[in-house]
Amino acid sequence: MIYKNLGSSNIRVSTLGLGTNGIGNFQNNNPDKTHNRQKIYQFALERGINLFDTAELYGEGYAEFILGETFKKKREQIVISSKVNPDNCTHFGLKRSIKESIKRLGTDYIDLYQIHWINPFVELEETFTILEELVLAGYIRAIGVCNFSISMVAQTSKYLKKIKISSNHIEINLFNQYEALKNLHYYQENKISIIGYGVLNHLNLNFTKKQQAFLDDLQKEYNKTLSQILIRYFTSLESIILLSRTDNIEHLKTNVGSFDFNLTAKQRQQFYKLFQYKVQTIPMEKIKIPQQFKKFNNFEIFKNQNNLIPSPLTIAQTFVKYNYFKPLKLLEKNDYYYLDSYDFYGELKKYLAWRILYDFSKPIPSIVF
Ligand SMILES: NC(=O)c1ccc[n+]([C@@H]2O[C@H](COP(=O)([O-])OP(=O)(O)OC[C@H]3O[C@@H](n4cnc5c(N)ncnc54)[C@H](OP(=O)(O)O)[C@@H]3O)[C@@H](O)[C@H]2O)c1
Repeated sequence: MIYKNLGSSNIRVSTLGLGTNGIGNFQNNNPDKTHNRQKIYQFALERGINLFDTAELYGEGYAEFILGETFKKKREQIVISSKVNPDNCTHFGLKRSIKESIKRLGTDYIDLYQIHWINPFVELEETFTILEELVLAGYIRAIGVCNFSISMVAQTSKYLKKIKISSNHIEINLFNQYEALKNLHYYQENKISIIGYGVLNHLNLNFTKKQQAFLDDLQKEYNKTLSQILIRYFTSLESIILLSRTDNIEHLKTNVGSFDFNLTAKQRQQFYKLFQYKVQTIPMEKIKIPQQFKKFNNFEIFKNQNNLIPSPLTIAQTFVKYNYFKPLKLLEKNDYYYLDSYDFYGELKKYLAWRILYDFSKPIPSIVF
């Protein structure tokens, strides 16, 4: 395992951390699955992973509780990152959320406390003033943000007086590396870590022949799997720490085996060149989304009856206030007979946010693969 400092803090973390979502909630969980997860967490620590990422959102606190239970006798050996929901980014919400997270985790402090998504209805000054107080009071060691654009990251320094944020937790993978990597120098200069998620989420997607040949050659040359090549590629970039999540111990073994080789500088450049998916704008009517989502009217979208977090309204307002819209992910269809030419790849909340903003009248920013 390779270790890096988290931002400018003295917190030392494994460059591959483990995520904890997807194990149900307090009312609805599978004890076998939970037990298996706890084994995975223990095994990860034995293999050098010390960064464990959780959130009050995950299973409404169940993920935090299980993580705390697993490591109650090993607290000092691990680094816990948790997150506050956008709705709780207010003065009172933050103070309540941190206490509840700490209680569920069975600890006195959280190493890295992150805003899960910006709340555009709360001023950043209010949120960061309280976060700084929480650091000074010893509840948290470092402050992080998630899903912030580079200009939103830059704004945080206006509101933090004594400390800087340590990290921005964003999606990073071959289809979505361009934005992060073009700003890498900013992260390096300002000593802010990028904590990447989603790196293995899209393993099954089709690559072009050229991309596939490049990946095949690397796997042969280093005798490594695709997940190992990808983990090594991203973690070899300064400032980048990755998170992965698995319920499969064999996958965990594979993932931690990603650090005994180095890609050459030329191969890293090739990665960047070959996988440049830039943001395009796609007409809304060309996107084929499941019928049940199509029929939502604006009133239903506003009500957020599916309880999506962040809500479509939050995403829409983030665009209005910060000019930031995280692109939709779309799959290009090879089917010329239909009007819809792009398949929806989840992420309903972004699609609905765009409906709030422009309905079908403006094309939506998207990454197409
Ligand atoms: N801040 C945010 O907004 C945000 C958003 C998303 C995620 N996160 C955090 O990031 C963590 C990582 O999440 P992620 O979904 O991005 O993780 P990921 O590791 O990129 O994707 C997880 C998927 O990859 C599979 N997988 C893992 N290792 C594999 C391997 N070696 N071979 C094949 N498949 C493999 C897993 O299946 P198996 O279980 O079968 O291995 C699972 O289906 C989360 O747990 C969470 O803590 C944060």
